[in-house]
Amino acid sequence: MADTKTMSKHEKVERNVGLMMVLTVLTVAIGGLVEIVPLFFQHSTTEPVAGVKPYDPVRLVGRDIYIREGCYNCHSQMIRPFRAETERYGHYSVAGESVYDHPFQWGSKRTGPDLARVGGRYSDEWHRIHLNNPRDVVPESNMPAFPWLERPAKSGDIEAKMKGLRTVGVPYSDDEIAGARKALEGKTEMDCLVAYLQGLGTAIKSVK
Ligand code: HEC
Repeated sequence: MADTKTMSKHEKVERNVGLMMVLTVLTVAIGGLVEIVPLFFQHSTTEPVAGVKPYDPVRLVGRDIYIREGCYNCHSQMIRPFRAETERYGHYSVAGESVYDHPFQWGSKRTGPDLARVGGRYSDEWHRIHLNNPRDVVPESNMPAFPWLERPAKSGDIEAKMKGLRTVGVPYSDDEIAGARKALEGKTEMDCLVAYLQGLGTAIKSVK
């Protein structure tokens, strides 16, 4: 064992696990903060892109069904800025499009296609048939069927949901919250999910 008096500073750190841990955490923390903190203050990541609006109650419920059914396990919502992606899916995704998504659904798992700009690509009827049994419209599809979505959408917690989102910065007005239950009257889960899908990525779709 080397004589402690002749040990270099580096050796001292390497031989002292506690000190090594403290210094490692400190280094990683500084590296992380330098990368992450500026993003909180950049307008391009915190402000909505022109045309992006908060989800109306029907789409909001649809989004929760999307999450409940695990659609994100096979579908990303993040078009990368590469030619192969933009030619297939449209304009690449920008951060300002997901400022009202809590949590965002970017993901990276693509068993199926990216859905960031699927809004308007098919008719509502196509989506209904597809969700009910994908093989009816895409014979080779291995997407599971979701035949149970033709039941009434639950609206009992919609006000709480919207108020919760308001506390994290989604600008819902009191009137919008008060009218939410009415907007959901008579809607099925299928109606809500299709409305959600049809709105995806439409705000900046025209940009090419
Ligand atoms: C096990 C993986 C898997 C799951 C889970 C899944 N999908 Fe899919 N999805 C696919 C595959 C594969 C395709 C491509 C074939 C097709 O169109 O059916 C697809 C296609 C789609 C398309 C057409 C996209 C396009 O651009 O043509 C939509 C819309 C879609 N899925 C929505 C959903 C929704 C909504 C859910 C949840 C209710 C869901 N998917 C769950 C695998 C999945």
